[in-house]
Amino acid sequence: MDLKDQIDIDKLPKHIAIIMDGNGRWAKQHGRPRVFGHRNGVKAVRETTEAAAELGIEYLTLYAFSTENWNRPKFEVNALMTLLVETIRKEVETLNKNNIRLNAIGDIDKLPTKSRDALLEAIENTKTNTRMTLVLALNYSAKWEIIEAVKDIAHQVKTDNLAIDQINEDVFKSALSTRNIPDPEFLIRTSGETRISNFLLWQIAYSELYFTPVFWPDFRKNHFYQAILDFQNRERRFGMTSEQVN
Ligand code: IPE
Ligand code: IPE
Ligand code: MG
Repeated sequence: MDLKDQIDIDKLPKHIAIIMDGNGRWAKQHGRPRVFGHRNGVKAVRETTEAAAELGIEYLTLYAFSTENWNRPKFEVNALMTLLVETIRKEVETLNKNNIRLNAIGDIDKLPTKSRDALLEAIENTKTNTRMTLVLALNYSAKWEIIEAVKDIAHQVKTDNLAIDQINEDVFKSALSTRNIPDPEFLIRTSGETRISNFLLWQIAYSELYFTPVFWPDFRKNHFYQAILDFQNRERRFGMTSEQVN
């Protein structure tokens, strides 16, 4: 039986987040510059987005650029920003055809103007789509996001719009950039690294984590299905006993 057919459609995670990693090592393996790896990563983005939408996943979040990634060589950063503009412009039509809405989290205002404009335009042009939301984490840092939320809440308290005693998980969640998105039940990282790298720290408090050695440019639908099958074989206990959840 195909991997896809083994997936239980009634037990899908609503939200899957992916740390797309390994482009540089993939390129090195092929004797090519790092940027070649980034360009080949686009195919994996397309395949994964398509696979997620076909299955009926509601939210797919892709970590595309972290605040720490600015520390890479200028040439690579520029290439990534250019690739972002090109890809977004090229893919808007496909997103609309597939009824996929684009969204973004991260410090978008600090992206180069061209990248930001292309992104905002695509978000606007896909905003009425309903099948799946594709969230790009761009210039994203979980610590940055948490600090921004703290500032927002502090401001509400200072202006007498919130009492300190009213601060709870829901209030905090509403102050995050993911306020309208359920927490990801499942987080995938490619390339064999087993760390979070400043991604969605609050939101992944109870996520199932999955690490695959596959480099991102090689990641295909079957790798995605394999990961989901792994997720479906886990018991999520949330602090309870196995007997309680069964
Ligand atoms: C992920 O691949 C893409 C980004 C972080 C933008 P890398 O570029 O991190 O590839 P490796 O980890 O160096 O192989
Ligand atoms: C995490 O990958 C960021 C993205 C995938 C965009 P990195 O390659 O930047 O992470 P580290 O440096 O290995 O932690
Ligand atoms: Mg990396």
